[in-house]
Amino acid sequence: MLQLKFIATTTFGLEATVKREIQKLEFENISTTDGAVYFTGNETVIPKANIHLRSADRVLLVMGQFKAFSFDELFEKTKSLNWSDWIPKEGNFYVTGKSIKSQLYSVPDCQSIVEKAIVENLKKKYKIDWFEKTGALYKIQVAILKDVVTLTIDTTGSSLHKRGYRDSAVIAPLKETLASALIELSFWKKDRIFLDPTCGSGTLPIEAAMIAKNIAPGISRKFVSEEWKNIPAQYWKDVRSKAYSDINVDFTPEIFGSDINPKAIEMAKHNAVNAGVDDCIRFETKPFNEITLKGDYGVCICNPPYAERMGILEDVENLYRDMGKIFRKNKTWSFYTITSHEEFEKLYGKKADKKRKLFNGNVKIDYYQYYGLKPPVDK
Ligand SMILES: C[S@@+](CC[C@H](N)C(=O)[O-])C[C@H]1O[C@@H](n2cnc3c(N)ncnc32)[C@H](O)[C@@H]1O
Repeated sequence: MLQLKFIATTTFGLEATVKREIQKLEFENISTTDGAVYFTGNETVIPKANIHLRSADRVLLVMGQFKAFSFDELFEKTKSLNWSDWIPKEGNFYVTGKSIKSQLYSVPDCQSIVEKAIVENLKKKYKIDWFEKTGALYKIQVAILKDVVTLTIDTTGSSLHKRGYRDSAVIAPLKETLASALIELSFWKKDRIFLDPTCGSGTLPIEAAMIAKNIAPGISRKFVSEEWKNIPAQYWKDVRSKAYSDINVDFTPEIFGSDINPKAIEMAKHNAVNAGVDDCIRFETKPFNEITLKGDYGVCICNPPYAERMGILEDVENLYRDMGKIFRKNKTWSFYTITSHEEFEKLYGKKADKKRKLFNGNVKIDYYQYYGLKPPVDK
């Protein structure tokens, strides 16, 4: 089997979370840069990484990495790579691009040069002059950063946050990948109570339930590289059947989701059915200030409105005050929230134990973390 190099792309701030997931999957030579985690492995990595990674956006196969300061250099070095190892005669390939702080800054020119170089390479290999492009899709990316060119082929297709269960959502739903990362970054474990009191379409409770039941996030969706001839269908089957057999069917976590909007609760229930976790989440329509914290050592993780994307500022600020009123006085519950509102801690009435800078789409947010007491025996 070939030794291949991959990049798991991610949102800025989540590199360490994705790195931990990659370590758990036992891939090799792991290193991180901004928004990317590099690792190596053979072809079986493609189904494994795509089906199992919870917080990464996509998995790219690295075809080559080199310095280029001129179009000639870009053309020759691209042409010398082994494109036919992956792209068959009938492959439907196209090139996207980006360039940051580099001499080759014209992205359309770089894209067209890379495409020409690949065509020249494949023409020679397949001894044809014209490519029908009727076969599987190969989305190639030329990414140039400080004159270092990275050429990749996307193995994922539609982004990994599209698990397939969320076919209805509120105005500003959380990406499933970010929801999963927020849970990963918290102290929640599957035997502690989980609560999201502004759950919208249910993303956080559903992701928590999938983690608790060990349901692989990509178990029931398709990936672009499933159409690629050089990854035998059996690899995908093997990874999926192992993922199915690893589901913790006998465990029912205690997960709660509520929201002021009854339509959101309808969507959340529907999405939970799609995800196969409706049996372990109790959803109800309820305004935040009416929630009661049942049991001890629960963990609340929420994504309230922050007025930037939805909500009226005064209502949002009152909601943040209510958060403080309910959670500040409870010693055992932990409370986590994201917001872009700079005055959150003042409104909540307490400085967070930890604050982490993240991005929700293009919006800069902070992840505020208030730690309750640890359970006597932290299982
Ligand atoms: C940003 S959305 C949550 C999106 C959710 N994470 C998802 O992925 O769909 C914020 C949610 O807070 C709810 N909300 C706003 N004010 C509330 C309140 N006072 N009590 C409970 N829910 C509230 C809204 O109805 C909305 O569904």
